Amino acid sequence: MKHRIGQPGEFGHVAVLMGGTAAEREVSLTSGRAVLAALQQRGVQATGVDVQGNLVESLLAQRFDRAFNIIHGRGGEDGVLQGTLESLRLPYTGSGVLASALAMDKLRTKLCWIGAGIPTPAWCALETEDDLVRCAEELGFPVIVKPSAEGSSIGMSRAATPEELRTAWESASRFECAVFAEQWVEGLEYTAAVLDDEPLPLIRLETPNAFYDFDAKYRANTTRYHCPAGLDAAAEARLQHLALKACQAVGVRGWGRVDLLVDARGKPWLIEVNTVPGMTDHSLVPMAAQAAGIPFDELVWRILETSV
Ligand SMILES: Nc1ncnc2c1ncn2[C@@H]1O[C@H](COP(=O)(O)OP(=O)(O)OP(=O)(O)O)[C@@H](O)[C@H]1O
Ligand SMILES: [Mg+2]
Repeated sequence: MKHRIGQPGEFGHVAVLMGGTAAEREVSLTSGRAVLAALQQRGVQATGVDVQGNLVESLLAQRFDRAFNIIHGRGGEDGVLQGTLESLRLPYTGSGVLASALAMDKLRTKLCWIGAGIPTPAWCALETEDDLVRCAEELGFPVIVKPSAEGSSIGMSRAATPEELRTAWESASRFECAVFAEQWVEGLEYTAAVLDDEPLPLIRLETPNAFYDFDAKYRANTTRYHCPAGLDAAAEARLQHLALKACQAVGVRGWGRVDLLVDARGKPWLIEVNTVPGMTDHSLVPMAAQAAGIPFDELVWRILETSV
């Protein structure tokens, strides 16, 4: 239900939760600083909280009325923090415990999507040496190997041979979570931001790298972002509808971002949903919002409204 807030004072004292201890800590701090500045600029009483130690202590040290959660990855995006906030009865932005935990686990998100009739590439869990053989038989090559619970493309690689599959498995296994190989989709990549159950314009991502990896996300100046994405209105609407359905299947609340690929035959394949997407000045949700005529500070305000 949409609840519009007119005056900044109605939000009360807002804790902007940022940092965390996951691999995406630095990205979160950058997102968090941008969110904090935008809220303060709009007159909201907001305080940044860099969450590294005891979250409960940090939250009880001051009197807060709600939280804007911008901690990416494990510990912030996976339901743990959400459960803590529920226990403290502190309203917060974004998805609840279940959707957060589910979306953090790419493998189980795929299972959920299969159940909901949402297309996602075929995959194979990689636990043992035997799985490498089975994966090569079932999926063929190339595949992309992923740790199930990381973000920012951390620990991922493309494998085109059994040797590369082994190397990719070993490097993904360094992260403490399940690892899987997914059928490689050759085609165009898009991301669909969703704000309060409304889709924002799609963005098409283009990189000369093998895929949209960590370098393409945060370092390279060769990544191109197309928004509008270059689709005709009907195709754009179909993908937006699919992204919305994908969010609803997982139970996403407030805001989120669905990553998808469209193959050479025009068929869409959904790959994951992010429940705490990046909010740096060159992140994708702010870019899509901008294209819809929503400036950054207004976007931050609207996300905060979803906590009310
Ligand atoms: N099945 C696939 N076929 C081809 N490329 C893929 C496939 N799955 C993922 N990729 C590429 O790898 C990138 C990262 O994958 P994914 O979105 O699953 O991971 P992530 O690290 O969680 O991303 P984020 O930073 O958005 O949280 C994608 O943006 C895409 O470029
Ligand atoms: Mg992604």
